[in-house]
Amino acid sequence: MVTVEHNFDLSALNTFGMKVSCDTYVEYSSSQELQSLDFDSFPKPWLHIGGGSNLLFTGDFKGTVFHSAIKYVKYVDMGLEEVLLTVGAGVILDELVKETCGYGLWGLENLSSIPGEVGAAAVQNVGAYGVEVKDVIAGVVCFDLQERKKVIFKTPECAYAYRDSMFKREKGRYIVTSVLFRLTRKYSPKLEYKGLAGLFAEKENLTPSEIREAVISIRKEKLPDPSEIGSAGSFFKNPVLSGAQFASVAQGYDTVPHYIVEGGFVKVPAAWMIEQCGFKGHREGNAAVYEKQPLVLVNATGAATPEEIISLENRIIEAVKNKFGVELHPEVEHI
Ligand code: EPU
Repeated sequence: MVTVEHNFDLSALNTFGMKVSCDTYVEYSSSQELQSLDFDSFPKPWLHIGGGSNLLFTGDFKGTVFHSAIKYVKYVDMGLEEVLLTVGAGVILDELVKETCGYGLWGLENLSSIPGEVGAAAVQNVGAYGVEVKDVIAGVVCFDLQERKKVIFKTPECAYAYRDSMFKREKGRYIVTSVLFRLTRKYSPKLEYKGLAGLFAEKENLTPSEIREAVISIRKEKLPDPSEIGSAGSFFKNPVLSGAQFASVAQGYDTVPHYIVEGGFVKVPAAWMIEQCGFKGHREGNAAVYEKQPLVLVNATGAATPEEIISLENRIIEAVKNKFGVELHPEVEHI
């Protein structure tokens, strides 16, 4: 069914809880419905959202917001080892993770409890605890708004990178309608992330569900519960520095948390930098830096305005720049 609403309240559709609205809201529940929409009748600009868990609305949206309610999970190839499934873009990622872990399939368990929907996860290349969703994506089916036709991308064509993809670079052109996942029955726990490795040091014969439970409890300790405090998860990306930049950041510290990434670059947790600048738990009006994970900005009272969040964001960027000479970039998309 297609739903079209006007002056639609978006409060429940952004996890930051910004009280904003859009001129027109369109929700559809199949790719056929999407293709048959009379696009020219919807006011521009257009914005397609997923679970609204990585967005900061900077004000009311004077255009059309689209949302997918394509919700199916189809197991298309059940091999002895590999299992292929195609999943509608509107399926809640964590419901999919729960289901596949329950079937003993490996691949998605480290991504437990990430808010948001499957389509947006494939656009944003969400990641946590040593896994990025691209690792288990075998293909992405889209509707091309420019050519008005269905297109299928193999994973390399999606040009995935850290919280990035071709879909983000070709902004507004493709609407993801379904994602093909490749999971496995083969025992393959990914425990490189230090917090996880420690928990399971003594254990063999783990199940995907056990890892899922561990990830859920780690996230509960560090990240705000979206049903209690509004946020959009990590607000900034972790900066990737050259060796020389890292040496300059590390000056005067005995140790600086970091890890080496492709090309010999050094990723430094922005959380650490923000904490060094004294912002951990810092509150300004209704906006705050989360006390357990300073990478997360929160709507502390539920009444924060976009201006309050942005002003805190800018203060943090400036402080980190002054102290470390490093420019932080938001991970959260500003609309
Ligand atoms: N840290 C501090 N102070 C703190 C918290 C953390 O200094 O109060 C430092 C510590 O050195 C810690 C390091 O930051 O070891 C890393 O912290 P954490 O493991 O929480 O991960 P992160 O790098 O801050 C990234 C992702 C998260 C993801 C976690 C776990 C980004 C932008 N964020 O955060 O993703 O859950 O790793 O894999 O890459 C999200 O994207 O919304 C998100 C929550």
